[in-house]
Amino acid sequence: MDLYEYQARDLFAAHGVPVPPGAVANSPEEAKAAAERIGSQVVVKAQVKVGGRGKAGGVKLAKTPQEAQETAETILGLDIKGHVVRRVMVAQASQINEEYYVSFLLDRSNRTFLAMASAEGGVEIEVLAVERPEALAKVPIDAIAGVGKGKAVEILTAAKFPAEVIDEAADVVVKLWETFVSEDATLVEVNPLVRDPHDRIIALDGKVTLDENAAFRQPGHAGLVDEEAENPLEAKAKAKDLNYVKLDGQVGIIGNGAGLVMSTLDVVAYAGEKHGGVKPANFLDIGGGASAAVMAAGLDVILGDADVKSVFVNVFGGITACDAVANGIVEALQILGDSATKPLVVRLDGNNVVEGRAILAEANHPLITVVDTMDNAADKAAELAAAGV
Ligand SMILES: Nc1ncnc2c1ncn2[C@@H]1O[C@H](COP(=O)(O)OP(=O)(O)OP(=O)(O)O)[C@@H](O)[C@H]1O
Ligand SMILES: [Mg+2]
Repeated sequence: MDLYEYQARDLFAAHGVPVPPGAVANSPEEAKAAAERIGSQVVVKAQVKVGGRGKAGGVKLAKTPQEAQETAETILGLDIKGHVVRRVMVAQASQINEEYYVSFLLDRSNRTFLAMASAEGGVEIEVLAVERPEALAKVPIDAIAGVGKGKAVEILTAAKFPAEVIDEAADVVVKLWETFVSEDATLVEVNPLVRDPHDRIIALDGKVTLDENAAFRQPGHAGLVDEEAENPLEAKAKAKDLNYVKLDGQVGIIGNGAGLVMSTLDVVAYAGEKHGGVKPANFLDIGGGASAAVMAAGLDVILGDADVKSVFVNVFGGITACDAVANGIVEALQILGDSATKPLVVRLDGNNVVEGRAILAEANHPLITVVDTMDNAADKAAELAAAGV
C-alpha cells in the first residue's frame, strides 16, 4: 500500500525524522486555518499518489494564510496524471540551501535491501539514475545487521554528501531505516532531504510503501487505507476475501490457482486479438475450495463490473473436484438470479470432469456455454465479449 505524503510525514515524525510542521486540509478554509497555526510562509501540496506533483502545479508557496486558502482552492480538484486532488498538505516553508535524495527499498532481484542516496536530490531520481548514474550511490543492506550510524555514514559518503552535514544526516538516515523496519515498509524515500541555512537536515517530501503481508502485526496500518480512493470492485472483493485485481478489458476471468489465472489472462489476451482486441477485465483467483458461495461472490464482483461483456470460468479440478465446482456455478447463478445477465464460458478439467460437465449439461442454463479446452474457451469468451461490446 502506497501512502500519501502527509501519512509518510506522520510516520517519519513518529520515528524522530525531522519534518516541517504541517497539517492536512480538505478545504481551502482548513488550509487557511492550518497556515494560521503554522504562523509563517507555507507550501500547499497536492496529496496524490503519483510523482511529479510540483511540475503539474501541485506544489505552491503561499506567503499568507489568505494566499494559502486561495492556493488550496486552485490545487484542490486539480487532475494530476489522472489523480484528482481531494486533500492538500500545508507545510511550513523551509529555507533550502541544498537538496539531497535518500531511500531504502526491498531489492527483490538481489534478495536484499538497498539504500540509494545522492547529494543531487530534488530532481526526478529516475532521470538522475539514467543521466548521471555515478551521482546515485547504491549500497546493499544486510537485513540482520541493518543500518547503524557507521553504515549510514558509509551510504552518505558514497553519495558524496558534503562532509560537514554527514554526521547530522547520518542520524536522520538511521531513523529512516528504523521507520522502514518497524513499519514493515518496502520503500521509504525522501526527495528532497534538505539542508537549511542552519545546516539542519529536514525531510521535505516522503514516499512510503507498506508491505500488506505484514498487516497482521501492524494494527495501526488499517487506518491508513483511503477507502474513498479504492476501486469499488476491489474493495468489494477484498471484503469477501477474494484475490481480485481490476484490469481494463472486457472478459471477466475466474479461475482456481494464481498460476492458472495468470495463464488464462495470457490466453484470453491472445484470443482477443482476433476479436477486435478484447482483453481480460480482471484477475480473480477463487483458490482451492471453490464452494458455491465463493463462486457466487466471485461472479457477483465480476458481473458488477460494467466493462465486463462475457465471463470465462476456467477451473482445474484438484482437491475440489469438477462436480463440486459445477454445482457451485449452478448454485451461484441461482443465488444471483436476475443480476446475472452476461454469458459465461466454462471450461472444466481434472478431477471428476465427466461428472462436472454432466451437471452443467443437466442444468442447461441459457447463459452457460461449456467448452472443453482452454484455448477454445478463451476464443469463445473473447468472441462473446466482442459481440457484446
Ligand atoms: N516544505 C517545503 N518548504 C520549501 N520548499 C519545499 C517544501 N516542500 C517542497 N518544497 C520544494 O518543492 C519541490 C517539490 O516538492 P516535492 O518534492 O514535495 O514534490 P514533487 O517532487 O513535485 O513531487 P513528487 O516527489 O511526488 O514527484 C521540492 O524539491 C522543494 O524544492
Ligand atoms: Mg519530491
